[in-house]
Amino acid sequence: MIKKTSAPAPPGMSSRAGSVLAPVLGWATQLGAVRASGSTVECDDGRSYLDFAVGTATLALGHGHPAVVEAVERQVRTLMHTGGVFFHEPMLDLGEALQTIVPDGLDRFFFCNSGTEAIEASLKLARYATGRQAVVAFTGGFHGRSMGALSLTSSAAKYRRKYRPLLPEIVHVPFPSAFRLGGDEAATGAALAALRDLFDLRLTPGEIAAFVIEPIQGEGGYTPAPRRFLQELRKLCDEHGILLVYDEVQTGFGRTGDWFAAQHFGVTPDILAVAKAIGGGLPLGAICARKKITDVWEKGAHGSTFGGNPVCCAAALAVVETMKKEKILDKVRVSGKHATERLLEMKKEFQVIGDVRGPGLMIGVEFVKNGREPNGPLAETVQAKCREAGLILLSCGQAHNVIRFIPPLNVRKADLDRGLDLLRDAIRHSV
Ligand SMILES: Cc1ncc(COP(=O)(O)O)c(C=O)c1O
Repeated sequence: MIKKTSAPAPPGMSSRAGSVLAPVLGWATQLGAVRASGSTVECDDGRSYLDFAVGTATLALGHGHPAVVEAVERQVRTLMHTGGVFFHEPMLDLGEALQTIVPDGLDRFFFCNSGTEAIEASLKLARYATGRQAVVAFTGGFHGRSMGALSLTSSAAKYRRKYRPLLPEIVHVPFPSAFRLGGDEAATGAALAALRDLFDLRLTPGEIAAFVIEPIQGEGGYTPAPRRFLQELRKLCDEHGILLVYDEVQTGFGRTGDWFAAQHFGVTPDILAVAKAIGGGLPLGAICARKKITDVWEKGAHGSTFGGNPVCCAAALAVVETMKKEKILDKVRVSGKHATERLLEMKKEFQVIGDVRGPGLMIGVEFVKNGREPNGPLAETVQAKCREAGLILLSCGQAHNVIRFIPPLNVRKADLDRGLDLLRDAIRHSV
């Protein structure tokens, strides 16, 4: 339950926004959030919503988890900022805590403020450490919007329109989407063939600094890469001295039921970019990499004034400790299995659901027509009906036809079931 701690905000934030904000940011709703707790957000229309968007897959422990709030309050009073002048304990404590959860060997960290910055740092480190320039990314990937990260992003043409020229020597190859290409093996075969063509026709492997891939595409449609594809990509990287970079900005910190998708797939990258959930709602990003790679990155070759700010690091440490203490990974596996089973029942009931795919609580529900054709308008209708009924969900995918089912990782069973009931009712009233 949300405790009312102050007078409600005046209604209609969206109507005020036009006179103060640049219109460029694409808000997912026209609602203004007033206060929030756990899975619930109270909005300026006087209603409470079940929030299964969680700050775009950010609030792993829901809104305002007491351990995170307490850590932040304590840190704000003790030491708020050092800006690269002094070492501070929260950053070192966090680094040591991360060493206990990251994939094997990725035990050196660089902290920044966001996912985009983590990708930017990964790109720079990959070029710096290999002395090579070309970087290969995958179609449909979202990696951020700064000029470097945007050069890797290819999930929507509108993100790139009017910003060219982007970074040179970035090449895109098709992402292996099992649903679109007829299963894991067919998708793996097609993507490997595209890589062979790339090596034969456009770019020799010795020129490539890195492959950058989301092991499960987020914005691109909640699409997991087949395990065998990642294994083959790892082999190609090892054979040709190419660095494998995972963008785990969305998949990281328990979303998949493992700490990282790298562990879920059993394939370890050389550089792992994280953000979103790590900060428990505060802005923090990081890259995790092997020592032999970070040792090459000379002092001053990269940096950030706010990156790894003490307050954000204290929040992140509270996230990691709480996730361990509350056995969140086990909870994600149980809740994820339950939600997936119920969504698969809905798939049987409604032909418009073409696919339900996990893992964990990173579940995509793909809406289709005529078999496998994307049905964006239907997904939009379902999303709107959910919102009217009090459930906030986000969509993704090239045609915006995939609904992301991403409750907080510690979602209570009653809330999870309520969300599933509301989604089912919304689909029933939309078809
Ligand atoms: C996979 C992935 N990479 C990078 C980013 C960019 O992160 P940020 O918005 O924190 O800069 C996002 C954001 O949605 C993301 O989902």
